[in-house]
This record gives sequence, C-alpha cells and structure tokens, in this order.
Amino acid sequence: MNAARDRIGSTPRLLVTGGAGFIGSAYVRDVLGRRDGTRITVLDKLTYAGRRANLALAEDDPEQAARLRFVHGDIVDPTVVDPLVAEADAVLNFAAESHVDRSILDPEAFLSTGVIGVHVLLEAVRREADRATSGARSSAPRFLQVSTDEVYGSVHEGWSRESDALAPRSPYSAAKAAGELLAMSYHATYGTDVVITRGSNTYGPYQYPEKLIPLFITNAIDDQPLPLYGDGLQERDWLHVSDHAKAIDHVLHHGDPGEVYNLPGEAQLTNRAVVAAILERLGKPWSLVRTVEDRPGHDRRYALDGTRLAGLGWRNLTDFATGIAETVDWFRDNDAWWREARSGAWDDYYRRQYSARLAASREA
Ligand code: NAD
Ligand code: TYD
Repeated sequence: MNAARDRIGSTPRLLVTGGAGFIGSAYVRDVLGRRDGTRITVLDKLTYAGRRANLALAEDDPEQAARLRFVHGDIVDPTVVDPLVAEADAVLNFAAESHVDRSILDPEAFLSTGVIGVHVLLEAVRREADRATSGARSSAPRFLQVSTDEVYGSVHEGWSRESDALAPRSPYSAAKAAGELLAMSYHATYGTDVVITRGSNTYGPYQYPEKLIPLFITNAIDDQPLPLYGDGLQERDWLHVSDHAKAIDHVLHHGDPGEVYNLPGEAQLTNRAVVAAILERLGKPWSLVRTVEDRPGHDRRYALDGTRLAGLGWRNLTDFATGIAETVDWFRDNDAWWREARSGAWDDYYRRQYSARLAASREA
C-alpha cells in the first residue's frame, strides 16, 4: 500500500453519517475491527434502509463498543449536526436515499438528504475550519462525500475518468451529482478540505433487499419470480462492499484535497450474467427469471477508470466469483435479517414496483 502521508492521523475521531446502512455499516465494522484506537460517531436517521442491527457486531464487542457512539438523527438538522462535527477530525457522508427505482416513484427525500443534508454538513465543516484558523481547534475537519459512478450517466463505450462531464439521468443520480458539486464549490470558495469517492455498484452482506443482487437472492430462496428489467443486457461494474469500505478509508487518509476518486469493481457484467451466478450458487432454475417492463430512463452501462485510485496505492481484494458466492451464502444463512427487512412497508413498495410488471411478465 502506498505510504503517502496520512492526512488525518492514525487515531482520528470520525463522524459517519448513514453508518447504519449497507456500505456505511460495513465501513464502521471494518474500521472498528482494526482495533487501532479510531473513534466513530454514527449519525443515522434509520430510514427503512438503516438498521441498528447492522452495527451489532461492533456494539456487542466491548472494546469496539467503547469507541462507537450512535446518534439517531437527520443530517438536515443543524442542531444535531453542528455539535457532532465540532468533535470530529473528519466527516464521512454515506447518508442518502440510495435506490433508483424509489427515486423514480418519490424523488423528494432524495433531494432533501442529498442536497440540503450535504449543505448542512458542509456549513458545519466550514465553521469548524474557521475555528481551526482562529486557533480554537487544532486542525480543520476533512469532508469525504460518498458518491457514485451513476453521476456520469449511461456510458456507452470506454471508461469514465474523474475529469469527465457529469450527466446524471435519474433523480437519484442527479441528487448525488448536486451533492458533489456543492461539496466541490466549498473547496473552491472556502478552501474546505473535501474529497469525493465515486463507487461502482456494490454488493455483499447486509444490503437492503431492494437492489438487484439481494432482491434476486432472497426471491430465489423463496422460489419467487425474479423481475429482470428489459433485455437484461445492461452492464454494471460490481464492487464488493468490503473493498468499497476499505477504498473509502484509503481515500480518507491519503486522498488529495479537492480530488475525486473513482472506485471501480473490476467486474463488468451484464445483469443476466449476475443472475446466472446467483442461481448457480443457490441451485435454482433459470425459469424463475421473468422479463418485465423496463425501468424508465434505464442507464445501459456504467464503467469506471481506476487509474487515479491505483496511483494512490489501492487494490481491491475480493474478486466477483468469491464475493458473489459468499454473499449468496450470507443471505442463505441470515434468513432472520432479511425477512425482518422485508416486513412492514416492504409489501406496499413491492406491490407498487412489481405487481403490474410481474402480471405482464414473460419468459426470460
Ligand atoms: P443505504 O440505503 O443502505 O443506507 C443509507 C443510510 O443512510 C441508511 O442507514 C439511512 O437510514 C441513512 N439516511 C438516509 N437519509 C438520512 C438522513 N437524512 N440523515 C441521516 N441518515 C440518513 O445506502 P448504501 O447502499 O449503504 O449507500 C451508502 C452511500 O453510498 C450512499 O451515499 C450511496 O449514494 C453511495 N453509493 C452506493 C452504492 C451502492 O451500490 N449501494 C454505490 C456507490 C455509491
Ligand atoms: P440496482 O441494484 O437497482 O442498481 P442501479 O440501478 O443503481 O445500478 O440495479 C442494478 C441493475 O439491475 C440495473 O440495471 C437495474 C437491474 N434491475 C432489474 O433488472 N430488476 C430489478 O428488480 C432491480 C431492482 C434491478
């Protein structure tokens, strides 16, 4: 790993927003599990996608629990955010509404968290930087905005580089692009220490079962139909959650201020290929797969160039064949976790998104 200087020190106090979600909780479990003295405050609204149970491994371990604090709250609320940022050496913003299909059904929450929430965090970071300048604290906090490859829009050929124009095409990716642009404007205008990561499609344990991989694994376990949008030949670049979390930490410590870093998965696959890998691991038949009406504005392909991240000394550790097998096995072995996630408001969402599609579906 590259020995570039560590920009936040080896035992920082981190504020992790959205730390009870899929990638945020993987980050918290990973960093606390290193037992290197890092302290973490998680600020999470606990939306349908956020669960305290995702942090149980850390909360049940006395040494890790002593370095973890959980605050239930919303990043749009400055009265909650400001005192937490005042205690932090760095803020990592994972908090977002994260599902494209829900952004098509109900965009509003995406804008509130993705734009106003980012603004509230940035204002608090700016204030703390001013305090550092006046000597009231030792150094200014760093702000890491967790973003996505979806800000580039649909990429028909080649690989997106960080300098490419942003062309988001869903309310989700437009809100993510807005959050990034706001963060970069603080760097340019106020000198705020901002770094941005653009991760590719992520999969692994604890992913809320609305996204392609966990939805199809859990449906297949129950022999329910798997609703494949359109021709199923859309391409995504799949990144294991543990690599996503570790790469974010690498950028936090070593990334240059005002820079954007792509985090590729290096597993460019069609949706059909991903579904085949899931079914093979579960020993379930292809006949479960149903072709359904496509997602409106469906991005055909995402693909990231990872040269800049590699230059920072980062390499992914999990290949797709290993990662998907472990992920399928995790869902098979953690039935109670995903059945709980698929309770309450789940049925309403599922009906809204899939009932008509499945009724009109055909063989895939
Ligand atoms: P997730 O939906 O699993 O988790 C989001 C978390 O944020 C939840 O715990 C939720 O309760 C919390 N949250 C939402 N609104 C909040 C608010 N206003 N205040 C405080 N907490 C709030 O999402 P994820 O898949 O873990 O994604 C995390 C981040 O990574 C997001 O910013 C997403 O855009 C980005 N990302 C995700 C992927 C992916 O494939 N999942 C890929 C690239 C980037
Ligand atoms: P998803 O996991 O929602 O991630 P994103 O849209 O952010 O890439 O979807 C991954 C791919 O799988 C995408 O091309 C849409 C497709 N998909 C289906 O075909 N059926 C589904 O039910 C879902 C949720 C996704």
